[in-house]
Amino acid sequence: MASAAETKLALPNRSPELPAEDVYFGPSEAMQTVRQRVVRAAGLNVPILVLGESGTGKEVLARFIHEYSPWRAGPFIKVNCPAIPGTLLESELFGYQKGAFTGATSAKPGRMELAQGGTLFLDEIAELDASLQAKLLHVLQDGHFTRIGDHEEKTLDARVICATNRELKHEIESGGFRSDLLYRINVITITLPPLRDRRDDIPQIVEFLRQQFNLRFTREAPPPSKEVLHYLQQRSWPGNVRELENCMARYVILGSEEAFYTDRPDPIERKPFNIAYEISEDGKIPLKRIARQVTRRMEHDLILKVLQANHWNRRKAAEVLKISYRALLYKVRQAGLPPKRPQRKPDPARMAADSTYSAT
Ligand SMILES: Nc1ncnc2c1ncn2[C@@H]1O[C@H](COP(=O)(O)OP(=O)(O)OP(=O)(O)O)[C@@H](O)[C@H]1O
Ligand SMILES: [Mg+2]
Repeated sequence: MASAAETKLALPNRSPELPAEDVYFGPSEAMQTVRQRVVRAAGLNVPILVLGESGTGKEVLARFIHEYSPWRAGPFIKVNCPAIPGTLLESELFGYQKGAFTGATSAKPGRMELAQGGTLFLDEIAELDASLQAKLLHVLQDGHFTRIGDHEEKTLDARVICATNRELKHEIESGGFRSDLLYRINVITITLPPLRDRRDDIPQIVEFLRQQFNLRFTREAPPPSKEVLHYLQQRSWPGNVRELENCMARYVILGSEEAFYTDRPDPIERKPFNIAYEISEDGKIPLKRIARQVTRRMEHDLILKVLQANHWNRRKAAEVLKISYRALLYKVRQAGLPPKRPQRKPDPARMAADSTYSAT
C-alpha cells in the first residue's frame, strides 16, 4: 500500500482542459488504486501502457501522467495511429529528409523528434500495421531512430505512453499484434475501470461537467435532482465517461431533466412515443410515411425544447441544432410552432407582487 503522502499529487502547472485531479481520480476504490499506480509510475523512465474500454479516459490519464512526470516541461505529442493512413504514419512518426520520396520537397521532423524531452503518446496502438510494429519495436529496443531517407541516428529522448481499448492478448493470438512489442510497451500497465465499476465517482463527474458546460454554453443549469443522480448511478454506461459527458451536455443545453431520459437503454422505461401508426385499408403499414411522421414529431419536440431553453432566440437555437437560420424558420413553420415566444397569460397574483412584471 502507498502511504498517504505518496498518494497526494500536487500538479504545478495542470492544463486547464484537464478535469481537476480530484474529479478525475474520484473517491471509488477502483480509481484510488489507479491513482496509486500513477504516483508510483509517473517518474520512472519506462513505457506505460494504458488499457480500458472506449471512453474511460485513457487519453486524459496519459496527459495526467505527463504532467506528474519529470518530462512535464517538454511537449506532449499525440499520435492517433488509426487516423493516419499506413505509409503516411511512418513519415509522421519518423520524419523525413528532403527528397526521401515524391512530394518530400523539404525535410520534416517526425513526432518522435518533436516529443524530445517530453511524452510521446501512441494512441490506439493495436491499430499499427505489422511493418510499423517492427519499426517501433526496433526504436524501443535500442532507443534510436532515423528520419526516412537519412543516415543520421537520433536518440529517442521521450517517455512513451501507449493506449488501446483492445484486448492485446487476443490480438497476439490472432496474429494482429507482436508479443515482443507488447513486452516492450507494457513495462507498467494501468487499466482504467469502466464507469459501471466506479459508480461512486459519478456525482463528482456530473458536477464537474455541469459547471464546465454551463461555462462553455453560457447556461445556468442547476445541479440535477437526487432522483436523476440515482438514475445516472444505476445506468450501465457502455460509452463510459464520454457517454456521461454527452448526456450532461444535452442536459445543460436543453435545460431540462428530461434530457437524461431520452436515451434510456431499457425500451420499457422509455416514454411511449404515441404515434398513431397508420394502417392502410389493405392491412399494410407504410414504413416510409410512419418514419416521416416520427421524424417530424421528434423535430417538433426537440426544436420546441431548444427554443424554450434559448428564450426563443431563433438564431441561437439554429446554432445549437446545427442548421441554418432559414432552415430553422422553415421547420418551425412546418412543425406548427409559434414563430415567437408565446405570450404568458398575466398572473394577477404575480403582478401584484412584482410591479416590474411584464407579460412578454
Ligand atoms: N474523470 C473524468 N472527469 C471528467 N471528464 C472525463 C473524465 N474522464 C474522461 N473524461 C472525458 O471523457 C471523454 C473521453 O475521455 P478519453 O478521450 O480520455 O477516453 P478514451 O479512453 O481515450 O476513449 P477512446 O478509447 O474512445 O479513445 C473526454 O472528453 C474526457 O475529457
Ligand atoms: Mg482515446
